[in-house]
This record gives sequence, structure tokens and C-alpha cells, in this order.
Amino acid sequence: MRILQFGRTGQVATAVQAAARGRAEIVALSRAECDLERPEAVRAAILAADCDLVLNTAAFTQVDPAEARPDEAFAVNAIAPGEMARACAERGLPFAHLSTDAVFDGLTDRAYVETDEPRPINVYGRSKLAGEQAVLAHPRSVVLRISWVFSRYGRNYVSFMLRLARERELLKVVADQFGTPTDGEVLADFLIATAPRWAAAPAGDPAFGLFHFANAGEASRFDFARAAIDRDPLTRARLEATTQAAFAEPAPRPPRSPLDTGKLRAVFGFEPEPWRVAVERTADRLVKGGLAG
Ligand SMILES: NC(=O)c1ccc[n+]([C@@H]2O[C@H](COP(=O)([O-])OP(=O)(O)OC[C@H]3O[C@@H](n4cnc5c(N)ncnc54)[C@H](OP(=O)(O)O)[C@@H]3O)[C@@H](O)[C@H]2O)c1
Repeated sequence: MRILQFGRTGQVATAVQAAARGRAEIVALSRAECDLERPEAVRAAILAADCDLVLNTAAFTQVDPAEARPDEAFAVNAIAPGEMARACAERGLPFAHLSTDAVFDGLTDRAYVETDEPRPINVYGRSKLAGEQAVLAHPRSVVLRISWVFSRYGRNYVSFMLRLARERELLKVVADQFGTPTDGEVLADFLIATAPRWAAAPAGDPAFGLFHFANAGEASRFDFARAAIDRDPLTRARLEATTQAAFAEPAPRPPRSPLDTGKLRAVFGFEPEPWRVAVERTADRLVKGGLAG
């Protein structure tokens, strides 16, 4: 199995490369090798590739800076993935892409399903939604919406909170924002395990289309942080609950955006773990590794 992957240094990109060892060959393109702001470079990379699947892990993921840089966010999150899907269609290649719970407004009393109407409330969410739509126009494409991704790799909430909790006496954490944490290493394993199925599946196969991928259950940001830092014997900080409003960030966040994974279970037989089990395992591994990396 050969996979052409856009993104090399990001959290999910790194987790996929780790999961692929001994199972699949990944050619991962960094920003220097292929800048997603240059659609012609994206297209050329796919037209030249010798691969069975194209996977996009790269994105403009900085939610607050995106408010002031919408052109960049749309170039990377919408135009580039659309170009990838088009080039894949020309080559007859399947295409896997990642999206986000931030396509929803967060005004819900239940977990979101794939058929719920997206209504993004910030530039990042709008750009990711435009990307999904461009990608799903290609029949052999799959979009996995994920949320609150954590792992041993890259910048993420679990590693960030563990470090901060060693440095500070007091940590104020938002307690009125709810979602489903997603284990990025389990996601990476799923992507590698499912790659042969996508590579073999014809257009119209149920393995293509839009899916929600997340751990089971729902957490507040506060619960999420608490579950991680409680695993570290060197934690100094006391956690204090605060509100989203108190942070006054440039981009509004959906207050509640848990993802329902019933479709994932029905099509792939994938059973998500409870989020707390996965967060604790990741925190233990990070603590054991000295919070390096
Ligand atoms: N992390 C989350 O909590 C979360 C939640 C929901 C959805 N997602 C989605 O999951 C996917 C992976 O996210 P992640 O957590 O792995 O993000 P990440 O750690 O921020 O990595 C993003 C990657 O995209 C690359 N990139 C950004 N702009 C680029 C450009 N113009 N050209 C080429 N590469 C560019 C970055 O390269 P540099 O290192 O050079 O900047 C980086 O490698 C994204 O689609 C994201 O929208 C993530």
C-alpha cells in the first residue's frame, strides 16, 4: 500500500507516519515540498505520484489567526483539498481528507450526525466546510470529521495542559465548552487499516462519503484537561473552571459539538473507546516519556 500524504510535520501527519511503519509506505510532503497555497503544486504532486491512495493531513488549523487571514485559510482548507480531489479523480485515485466539528454552530442538545446541517460560526469552520464540499464532489473521496484531537505527537491539548500544569500554580480552564476528544493515534491506525479498502472500493461504495470519527462520550474542556493532568505525579497546578467568554478569543467556538459515530460503526465496524480511557493512556505515555516531543 503506497500513500501520498499532504502534511509531514503536523500532529495527525506524524501519527499516521508512526502507524504506517511496517504496514504501508508513506510519501509525506512538507510545506516546503508542496505549499497548499499553490494549487498547481498540489495538482502536480498528485499527477506525478505512484500511489494507491492520497491522504490530506495538512490544514490551516490556527482558529484565531484564521479570523484575520481568511484568504489563506480558504486557500489551504478549501481550494487545495478541492484541487486534490479533482486531480485524484483524473488519476482514478481514492482521496481521504480530514474535517472538523467546527463546521457546526454548537447549538445542539445531542451529538451531531453526518446529515445535520453544518452552520460554521468562524472563518476556520467556514473554510473547512467549503473544503468538505469541494472534496465530496469527487465520488471516490472520504471525509472524516474529527474533533479535539490529542496524541503523543505535535501540538495538542493533552500535551499542552500537562506541560502547563507542571509550570503553573493555577490553570483556568473553560468548563462551558463540550465536545468529543479524538485519539489521533487510533485515528492514524484506522486510516492505515482502512487504506486498502478505500484503494479497492469503486465509486458509490459505502466506504466513501462523510463520516464522524471520535472517541465515545462527551467532555467539557475542563473534564478533558483534568483527565490528563490527574495522571501526572509532577502536576503542580490547581484547576479552576472558567467560561469561554472570559477568554475573549478572536474566533467564537461552538459551545457544544460532540460527534455521533454510529455511521462509522455501521460501515466499518469501528467501535470507539470511551474518551477518558484514551486520554489517560496518552497522558501516561507522555508522562513516561518526560513530556518530550
Ligand atoms: N487538532 C485538532 O484538534 C483537530 C480537530 C478537528 C479537525 N482537525 C483536522 O485534522 C487535520 C490534521 O490536523 P493536525 O492536528 O494534525 O494539525 P496541525 O498539527 O496543526 O498540522 C497542520 C499541518 O498542515 C501543514 N500546513 C499548514 N499550512 C500549509 C500549507 N500552506 N502548505 C502545506 N502544509 C501546510 C502544517 O505545516 P507546517 O508544520 O509547515 O506549518 C502542519 O504540518 C486538519 O485537517 C484539521 O483541520 C484537527
